Formats: sequence, structure tokens, C-alpha cells
Amino acid sequence: MKYSIIALSILAVSALSVVLYLETKQPCKTPQTEQKHLLLSHATFQSEPITPIPDKLNLNSQKVRLGEKLFHDVNLSHNKKLSCATCHNLQKGGADGLALSMSAENQKLSFPNLPAFNSPTVFNSTFNFVQGWEGKARTLQQQAAIPLFNTFEMGNTSWSNILNYLNQSPSYKTLFSQVYGTPTIIGTQILDALSEFERSLITPNARFDLYLKGYQQALSAYELDGYQLFKERGCISCHQGMNIGGSMFQKSGIFKPLFGEVPYMSNEKLFKVPSLRNIALTAPYFHDGSIETLEEAIDLMAKHQLGITLPQDENNKIQAFLKTLTGKYQGKLLLNE
Ligand code: HEC
Ligand code: HEC
Repeated sequence: MKYSIIALSILAVSALSVVLYLETKQPCKTPQTEQKHLLLSHATFQSEPITPIPDKLNLNSQKVRLGEKLFHDVNLSHNKKLSCATCHNLQKGGADGLALSMSAENQKLSFPNLPAFNSPTVFNSTFNFVQGWEGKARTLQQQAAIPLFNTFEMGNTSWSNILNYLNQSPSYKTLFSQVYGTPTIIGTQILDALSEFERSLITPNARFDLYLKGYQQALSAYELDGYQLFKERGCISCHQGMNIGGSMFQKSGIFKPLFGEVPYMSNEKLFKVPSLRNIALTAPYFHDGSIETLEEAIDLMAKHQLGITLPQDENNKIQAFLKTLTGKYQGKLLLNE
């Protein structure tokens, strides 16, 4: 009896220590393949002003597939020439590579008469606090309605044109009824499906994210110097958070105006600080697409937003850092083809 009590207590103690041991062995949330290279702990990225993009969001996959079809369908524009993907090409970093986008009439939109902007990437837009350069839309649903009905974009004057087309398409009718269960398709369902697809356009596991997750060798010493400078020189005061931007409005030119008067602006000349994720793929830069290279963009930012002139070697290092922000879409490194 005495012995069995001793044996039982030994068993209990060892079981407890196995549990405690397992608890302390909980791995950091790092991709399997990177775990063996783990050099830094979780604490590292928790103290950084930038956080990694999650590997996956919880989404309705049927809606995503429907949204993807709509996103690429030119029949949603009034003259069947433009789809969302024309200006947000997923093979071109989610933008169109033009200074200013083309309208459905193939007109080059131009300043200062038209509300024309450089097309921002749709990748990771779900992590922005508002959508568009001036934050005209708060949600992706609201945002999707703007190009559909903008004369200079997809040019519809009402839903009827779009709804007639979709309600006459057997394949769309099946897809919509699977997702929404209604006999006819309505506008809010279109915006809902488009926005669910856009939520799937995330690009995790950029080399910089791997670094943040603890895989220290993901960045070279040179690129890390670039990140240090990005913080020390003050870029981080505006370009911060998960999207390295997309979290606040700021003036375009704190120390001196970056551009002349911008007469059409509605938002007291404040712009959403753009995300710098995948920035190497989305030239030309700035709201009017007037700047062709990252080098020049960095130089202008230093002068106009921070009141400093960056030495060439610091500019080069920041460029090298910004190039580590290119992430993976569906497991493949994003390219601009
Ligand atoms: C003619 C080109 C064009 C088409 C077509 C177009 N967009 Fe855009 N998109 C733009 C431009 C230009 C902006 C910036 C507008 C602004 O800031 O007011 C933009 C902004 C956006 C943004 C905000 C991104 C951010 O980071 O701020 C999203 C999201 C977006 N578009 C999704 C869509 C969807 C969905 C469609 C299809 C329904 C679409 N776009 C069709 C050119 C286009
Ligand atoms: C005071 C806030 C602020 C600071 C500081 C700042 N930026 Fe910006 N950044 C902005 C705003 C606002 C824009 C959009 C300007 C425009 O389009 O007119 C922008 C645009 C950019 C762009 C172009 C993005 C695109 O998609 O076109 C790059 C690149 C950039 N910044 C890098 C930097 C770097 C590097 C630094 C540090 C040297 C820096 N920024 C400092 C607010 C800031």
C-alpha cells in the first residue's frame, strides 16, 4: 500500500512535469521550414513598430471564387472594356504601372480637371484603415462601388446594366445562389463578393516578415542597416504597422509642399500614408504617379516630410530594405511581369 502511494505520486509528478515541459516548448508562430533557423524570440517582433502579415485570413472560399470572377470580368464596365484587374493587375503588383489610369473610353485621365489618381495596389488593402489616397471609402465594399459608377472608370450609370448581364448568365446565377441563396442577384451581393476576394489578396512571408518572425538570416546586414535608418531618420513615424503605412492621414509635404496646389482635393490636402508593402513592384510613385524610381521617392520623402537630405549611401540602404518588403501571394513571390 505504502509503495503504491509512492509509485502513484512519482507518476503524478512526472506527468505534471511532462505537461509543464510541453507548455514551455510551444514554438513561435513561424513557418515549419524556418523553425530550425529560429534565432530570435517572439519578443523581437512584439517590440517592433511593424508586424508581419498573417499567413491566412478566415474567408468564405466560395465568395472568394465568385469575387475573383467578378474582379476579372470586363462586362461589369459600361462598354465591356475594363475590369477591376485592368487597373489592378495581379501580375503587376496589383496596380497598372501607369502614372494615371486609363478610363473605359481609353482616355488618359489627367490633372487638374479630373479626379485622377495613380492606381494603388489592391494587395493587402484589407489592412488599410481607409481606402483610396484620400480615404474616400471606409470599407472595401464602399470602395468597390466607386469605380463601377465613376464616369472616368467603369462608367455605369446604375446597377441595371450590371444586374441584367449577371442575371442572364447561368454560371453566375448558380454561383450567386450557392453563396447567397436568393433567386435574383442584387448589387450588395456583388460588392460583398468583390470585397471578400480582395481580402484574399494578402502577401505574407516577405523576407522582412521572416526576419520579424525570428529568422534573422532573412535579411543581409546591408538591408538591416536600411531598416535601422528607416526608423532612425523618421520614416517609421508615418509608415508603420502591419502595412508599413495605411494607418493614418498626413500632409503631403510637412516641411515644404511636395506638390503644388491640388485643386480637386476634398480632404484638406491630407493623404492616407500609402503602404510600402510590395513597393518595389508598383512604380511610378505618389498620388499622381509623377515619380519613376524608389531612389527619387525616398529622396523627396526625406526632404519634404523630414526636412533632411539623405546621403546617397543611406538612400541606397533604405532602397535595399524596401525591396525586402515584396511578399508571397498564394505561396509564390510576387512579381511585376
Ligand atoms: C480605371 C482604372 C481602375 C479601375 C477599373 C478600378 N480601379 Fe480601383 N483604383 C483606381 C485608382 C486610380 C484608385 C485610387 C482612387 C482614389 O484614391 O480616389 C483605386 C483605388 C482602389 C482601392 C483602394 C486601395 C488603397 O490602398 O487605397 C481598391 C481596394 C480598389 N481600387 C479596388 C477596385 C475594384 C474592386 C475595382 C473593380 C470594381 C476597381 N478598383 C476598379 C483605378 C481603378
Ligand atoms: C509625415 C509623414 C511621412 C513621413 C515621415 C514619410 N512619409 Fe513616405 N509618404 C507619406 C505620404 C503622405 C505619402 C503620399 C504622398 C503623395 O502621394 O503625395 C508618402 C509616399 C511614400 C512613397 C511612395 C508610395 C507610393 O505608393 O507611391 C514612398 C516610397 C515613401 N513614402 C517612402 C518614405 C521613406 C523612405 C521615408 C523616410 C525617408 C518616408 N516615406 C517618410 C508620408 C510620410
